[in-house]
Amino acid sequence: MKRLIIVAVFFVFTMLSCAVGKSVIKPDSDISAIKTNYHSDKTSRKMLMAGNWKMNKTVSESLSVIKTLKKAVSDVKDVEILIFPSYTALQAINNETKDSNINIGAQNLFWETKGAFTGEISPAMIKDTGCSYVLIGHSERRQYFDETDETVNKKIKAAMTEGLIPIVCIGETLEEMETNVTFQVIEKHMKEGLAGLTTEQATSLVIAYEPVWAVGTGIPVTPNHAQEVHAFIRKVYAKMYKEAADKIRILYGASVNPENVSAFMKKPDIDGCLVGKASLEAESFSKLIKYSK
Ligand code: PGA
Repeated sequence: MKRLIIVAVFFVFTMLSCAVGKSVIKPDSDISAIKTNYHSDKTSRKMLMAGNWKMNKTVSESLSVIKTLKKAVSDVKDVEILIFPSYTALQAINNETKDSNINIGAQNLFWETKGAFTGEISPAMIKDTGCSYVLIGHSERRQYFDETDETVNKKIKAAMTEGLIPIVCIGETLEEMETNVTFQVIEKHMKEGLAGLTTEQATSLVIAYEPVWAVGTGIPVTPNHAQEVHAFIRKVYAKMYKEAADKIRILYGASVNPENVSAFMKKPDIDGCLVGKASLEAESFSKLIKYSK
């Protein structure tokens, strides 16, 4: 009997080790090679949990989730809550969330103010639906719709002229991660995508680090990997915009769920998460928002 128990314990331990090992897709080799000593004061920033619904949910499906979410998170004060529904649901979601602690944003915008640009949506149109935020340069837009750092830059400036806060997504692809150029890629996204901002603009935007190879896979990068990259982002931003680096929020986004969120949120340079799949249902997103409870 005693032997049976020992064998059972050994088996469970081996399975657990495999499961933990599986979440570490690649060693952080390129990351640890670079010294990232820049750490800021996290307590001065309000944490932000943003749900990116991508191309999911009709208006009625969106409303059904938002009604439940609204009730579930009505007591949350220490975390800012944000949802990016589809364009078509923005107006309805705004009506539903107007007097709540949930903010809304659009998933994209076009930089021109008006004119013959069939199918595009201007910053003013987005603002008009009650949005305070806009997502810019998400990896899916870079991958499928030819978004570049140059178009990202134009969009950021157009959004800010209209008083919208951009959440700018940056991150390396699988190939870039495998060839150890993560830091170079991040730096390029920042130097080109975030160029030419005023101090006020530089201070109010949000950056989301989304390692493309971990988005939508269900397997996130390790919190240590994310922290190293976030600290690097803050360091590069400090070179570009000095004090703004301490003030901006940097979100982690890729396969975050209610089980792994608190490990990310413990890190000193992670100020919130940009969440895809786990934000689609009120139950999982509200759990995630309440990560510290
Ligand atoms: P995911 O998506 O949480 O489903 O990985 C994140 C995102 O694309 O913003």
